[in-house]
Amino acid sequence: MAPFDQRSPNQQLLPLTAKTNANDHLEIGGCDVVELVEQYGSPLYILDELSLRTACQQYRDGFKSYYHGESQVIYASKAWNCLAICAIVASEGLGIDVVSGGELYTALQAGVKPDVIYLHGNNKSESELEYAIATGCTVIIDNWLELKNASNLAQSLGKSPRIMLRITPGIECHTHEYIQTGHLDSKFGFDPTEVESVFAFLSNQTLLQCVGIHAHIGSQIFELQPHQDLGAVMISWFKIASNYGLNLTELNIGGGLGISYTESDDPPSITEWVKTVSNSVITACEAQGLALPKLISEPGRSLIGTACVTAYTIGSNKTVPQGRTYITIDGGMSDNPRPITYQSKYLAMVANHMSTEADQVITIAGKHCESGDILIKDIKLPKTNPGDILVVPATGAYNYSMASNYNRIPKLAAVLVDAGTANLILKRETYADLIRQDVLPTKLQ
Ligand code: LLP
Repeated sequence: MAPFDQRSPNQQLLPLTAKTNANDHLEIGGCDVVELVEQYGSPLYILDELSLRTACQQYRDGFKSYYHGESQVIYASKAWNCLAICAIVASEGLGIDVVSGGELYTALQAGVKPDVIYLHGNNKSESELEYAIATGCTVIIDNWLELKNASNLAQSLGKSPRIMLRITPGIECHTHEYIQTGHLDSKFGFDPTEVESVFAFLSNQTLLQCVGIHAHIGSQIFELQPHQDLGAVMISWFKIASNYGLNLTELNIGGGLGISYTESDDPPSITEWVKTVSNSVITACEAQGLALPKLISEPGRSLIGTACVTAYTIGSNKTVPQGRTYITIDGGMSDNPRPITYQSKYLAMVANHMSTEADQVITIAGKHCESGDILIKDIKLPKTNPGDILVVPATGAYNYSMASNYNRIPKLAAVLVDAGTANLILKRETYADLIRQDVLPTKLQ
């Protein structure tokens, strides 16, 4: 197998450090998955630090090699935002994209510097805007209301905030319709027909520093063409902005690179994506005779998706006469809502007997009171018994961050593994945590 740094983490089905150990158990980051579950409980998110760091480095160094202007990679932390992950990506020189006051608070608490934090969102509240402006983050302005609120806040706070404009580029890509964002009929960003009036508004603003523009066309994208096209579309706005006396110097081309969830997924590598984006912007700038802008990208899923697996314990099973065999795990749609939301496909393996032949087709059901809570339909697995450890790979992105307490199930713990050591990064919720916000009015006591 190629050395770690030559494999693109987003193209792997398992974390880079995964292997089968002498006990025929799955090992990640030098830690036996079965032992991790014994120690930290089940179900458990297991995050491989090396995979996450390698993906950060491939993005960061890729732009250094292929883009000869300034570049900044920022982690789209909606994929998984918590203190430890913000701290890891920041230590690799990445900035952080946040979409709420809560994500911003977490990034700041993790020690991320405001000059590399970018606040997104299509309906930021005034208090979120104020929080970002007061702390010195860059705000990506999505609409007129926000633009006006930001202008008023700049006055009242006596600040000169850095802003960028989110523009809907009119570029479609092939992915689930819920995660397409670049087509014109999208709730995000300014429609192209409005952009010149925004530039005109900004040309009269003394406090708002509009440093550039942003677009994000969607997520889990396997084609390179949409990003190839995006450079020219976005750079054409730089010239138009200069007609309004605006000197744009930064371009944020969003994220969106896909990952492998199953063998049939075939995403480009991180380096191929970086090269495409870089060339597209360089070519567009040459064609327009413009200096290269600072190129910002904001990947989420491709940085962290395949770095994590979820380990579950197998419980009951059921065979429908002449029908399917179901095995049930001790988690489901509350820790991974993606199958029920997007019909996403996942792989699974039995972590305590990795080399046993997969000779039966089974369906893996979650434990929630909902028929649709099926994690994987019809997958080939070895025969399993209650108590076996089932591992589902590629759960690093949009699992913990979209997790719920449906059926009052506590959120899982997460451990960070590296070189044989595990560190808890998210504690398992307790029953007491579940009622922490409950209030029992006196009249009901
Ligand atoms: N930038 C912006 C403005 C975004 O809205 C997103 C994702 C990203 C960057 C990062 O995209 P990525 O590199 O992760 O594709 N919950 C869905 C995904 C929603 C994506 C939302 N925006 C899922 O589980 O597939």
